[in-house]
Amino acid sequence: MNYPAQPLIDNHGRIIDYIRIAVTDRCNLRCYYCMPEEGIDYVPRDHLLHYEEIERIVRILAAMGVKKVRITGGEPFIRRDIIHLMESITRTPGIEALHITTNGTVTKNYIPQLQAMGVKGVNLSLDTLDRERFLKITRRDMLDEVLGTMHALVDANIPVKINMVVLGGINDDEIVTMARLAEKHPVDVRYIEEMPFNGGGHAQQTTWRDHHFIAERLRSEFPGLTLIPSEKSSTATNYGIHGFQGRLGIIPAFSRTFCGSCNRIRLTPEGVFKTCLYDRGMFNIRDVMRSGASDDQLADTIREAVGHRATNGFEAERQAMQFPYLDNSRESMSTIGG
Ligand code: GTP
Ligand code: 5AD
Ligand code: SF4
Repeated sequence: MNYPAQPLIDNHGRIIDYIRIAVTDRCNLRCYYCMPEEGIDYVPRDHLLHYEEIERIVRILAAMGVKKVRITGGEPFIRRDIIHLMESITRTPGIEALHITTNGTVTKNYIPQLQAMGVKGVNLSLDTLDRERFLKITRRDMLDEVLGTMHALVDANIPVKINMVVLGGINDDEIVTMARLAEKHPVDVRYIEEMPFNGGGHAQQTTWRDHHFIAERLRSEFPGLTLIPSEKSSTATNYGIHGFQGRLGIIPAFSRTFCGSCNRIRLTPEGVFKTCLYDRGMFNIRDVMRSGASDDQLADTIREAVGHRATNGFEAERQAMQFPYLDNSRESMSTIGG
């Protein structure tokens, strides 16, 4: 492959410099907005991308200008030896930042290694501070483990963002309580609109809360809420409050107000290459690799997919209805990686 390759630019002029890699669809929690309680069709292990394959993809993408990698899942720390993959990614020339999105239940054990490899940030999924509710939402009793991870990350000086999916009638009365985490601790708290990726093939059962609802709730409690300029590609609209150590962010994940500056592509655990969270995948990179493609051929295939990107998440969703590469009528966020 010729280095440096041309930067990766989509058919709408957006530069792609960020890849989100879901390394497993398995999880030790069962968040109801993400997956059904039982009857999950896990990807068979031999269908997963091998670590060497992921390393190769990251190397090729880095040469095309990708600088940021986020490891997600499922729960990434459930996959064996994941730390080795993370270390190898941080050593890849051109990769400037490794981030992780995790449920925080077993993450604490790995913090010394994360610190040593220079992880740039850890996003923790945490929807409630109430133990009973945590159990109801995730179907597991592990709130203390997540809070333990949060404190240990802060002590290790690893930047933490808390992801709260706002669920009408379930946890929307905790918007302010959760904000207080950013007052007491140097962590950012982000409120996320629920998306219909719960693996059940049915619509959400709760009253849906949008970004306006969340912003109103915050404004009425904190009149001093001030908008903080964010990176152009940020999914979150960020706010500061005098006296708070961390920021508050609102992510209109379903309203999709940020698509115009989207800089990201995605890989599912079995190698489906997605140019939008809402698309059904452009091709399977694992199959292309296992058929013997060279680095140049892989780079060309990636460039071709990025050259056929939907304008936004709404168009991607519409096209997904007509192009059933993946059956995502029952898609779970644990397969997409968020
Ligand atoms: P930062 O790099 O810290 O900004 O991370 P992030 O917010 O992009 O990542 P994270 O994994 O913490 O995701 C937070 C929420 O944003 C999740 O619910 C994601 O599904 C959602 N999200 C992330 N990227 C996109 C996107 O491209 N489109 C949409 N609609 N939602 C996204
Ligand atoms: N809607 C919105 N966010 C979701 N997440 C998981 N499922 C959904 C959903 N249906 C969030 C998790 C995690 C992030 C990657 O995606 O809370 O923090
Ligand atoms: Fe697991 Fe995250 Fe899905 Fe919850 S949202 S079940 S923690 S993958």
